[in-house]
Amino acid sequence: MSSFLWWQRGIVYQIYPRSFMDSNGDGTGDLVGILSRLNYLEWLGVEAIWISPIFPSPMADFGYDVSDYTDVHPLFGTRDDLDRLVEAAHARNIRVLLDYVPNHTSDQHPWFVESRRSRADPRRDWYLWHAGRENGSPPNNWLSVFGGSAWEWDAPTREFYYHAYLKEQPDLNWRNPEVRAAMLDVLRFWFERGIDGFRIDALRQVFKDVELRDNLPNPGWTPSQPPYESLLPVHSTDQPELLELVAEFRDLADAYPERVLIGELWLPIERLVAYYGVGGRGLHLPFNFHLILSAWNPREIAALIHTYEAALPAGAWPNWVLGNHDRQRVASRVGAPQARVAAMLLLTLRGTPTLYQGDEIGMQDVPIPPEAVQDPVEWRLPGLGRGRDPERTPMQWDDSPNAGFSQVRPWLPLAADYQSVNVAAQKSDTRSMLSLYRRLIELRRASPALSVGSYHQLYVDDTTLVFERDAGDQRRVVALNLSADERALPDAVGSLPVILSTHLDRAAEPATVLRPHEGVLLDSR
Ligand code: NOJ
Repeated sequence: MSSFLWWQRGIVYQIYPRSFMDSNGDGTGDLVGILSRLNYLEWLGVEAIWISPIFPSPMADFGYDVSDYTDVHPLFGTRDDLDRLVEAAHARNIRVLLDYVPNHTSDQHPWFVESRRSRADPRRDWYLWHAGRENGSPPNNWLSVFGGSAWEWDAPTREFYYHAYLKEQPDLNWRNPEVRAAMLDVLRFWFERGIDGFRIDALRQVFKDVELRDNLPNPGWTPSQPPYESLLPVHSTDQPELLELVAEFRDLADAYPERVLIGELWLPIERLVAYYGVGGRGLHLPFNFHLILSAWNPREIAALIHTYEAALPAGAWPNWVLGNHDRQRVASRVGAPQARVAAMLLLTLRGTPTLYQGDEIGMQDVPIPPEAVQDPVEWRLPGLGRGRDPERTPMQWDDSPNAGFSQVRPWLPLAADYQSVNVAAQKSDTRSMLSLYRRLIELRRASPALSVGSYHQLYVDDTTLVFERDAGDQRRVVALNLSADERALPDAVGSLPVILSTHLDRAAEPATVLRPHEGVLLDSR
């Protein structure tokens, strides 16, 4: 196990900083708040935290519109607070990852303010400007992920600029060597300050076709899907030059000991795994979101694991994700009882798990009344359920007013059930979701088979998935019942002793049946 690195052995915990812990009573979370909860994260057993953007930002997209890459937004604190947090985390053997947003800046970033000033400005070419077609329409049919054309008309300079997301998030021109140099300096800046790695935002968007060719229609699209998906983004994403850039990121990271690069890449598996790079000059972990996208049934999940494992290039380390700040919470998607089975799956698969804050207590999506909506996506894509506020509500720490998150009313509403669903209550309940997560993390960390062992599927049918993890002479079997009915265990594993049940009410006895929504970890030596 010792030949594996921390980011292979351990668990990454995603912190959405606005909603983790508010230390100064303004209703929004901050860095000192995170610092004050490090004991909890240490107790939970996570290896690293990834903090979503904390940089200065007008907050059009809640920090994913950065106006200064090397400072901290006063809402979250100061650079000194960050230094203190990193130091305190390191003292507990917890690594700290930041979010790196290379595709776009804020429209308030000085680079864009200058670029927008005139066509002759030296920074003009730092962004993607175009005069459009002769009839006055945008240069092509490319769409913004958040709805509408991706081209915004700038009347004073009579050109369009490109924005893959909001118009407040203009895309950088990565073919400009000065942009490249300035943005690589950002990575260096934070590595020098002791940051252990980055989650790289919207990576597939970074290069676009030089000829700006139209994207192709998606024949499978229906109006219940976001308009962005009506086109296949073949010319606006996942371009060949991106791999060269990723290799450069990797060389830079490799100049520092044990740093990690995780990439946000919504891509089919065969394209995703390309970002491990050639000869180790790629991402350490191209985020694998396919459990979020898969139907929740054993056959599809088994096929996904098989396809993914088979596609991994030699030496590539797998990873799995069940949720994040952009997607419906897993407990809402699969239901509260099944969320325990999902937890066991995430923490027993081969590969680094990333855990989204609050999933460990089974937080659900919180309904947001119209007057409380914050996410611009809710307004821009109405009726599609794509607004992201429901999965971004404040962490539920205890049953006090404002859930122990803040002294005042938080920026987003709290879950109605926070008085019963919270960290404090679940810590003292030996059968809670939190107790399950903690046990699973503890068992995973202590077991070579679970943390770094090989994966073999043993059995699958319409309700049940059984697999084994092996390392040396240690063998662990995981049997998951994805249904609401009792299921018999296949004979081959039916007499193995239980190490852990997701119900947290049996151990040591041989398991012969799986109860409804039950997963078990079995010892098979
Ligand atoms: C992906 C981030 O996770 C999301 O929250 C953000 O809106 C977009 N990238 C744009 O930066």
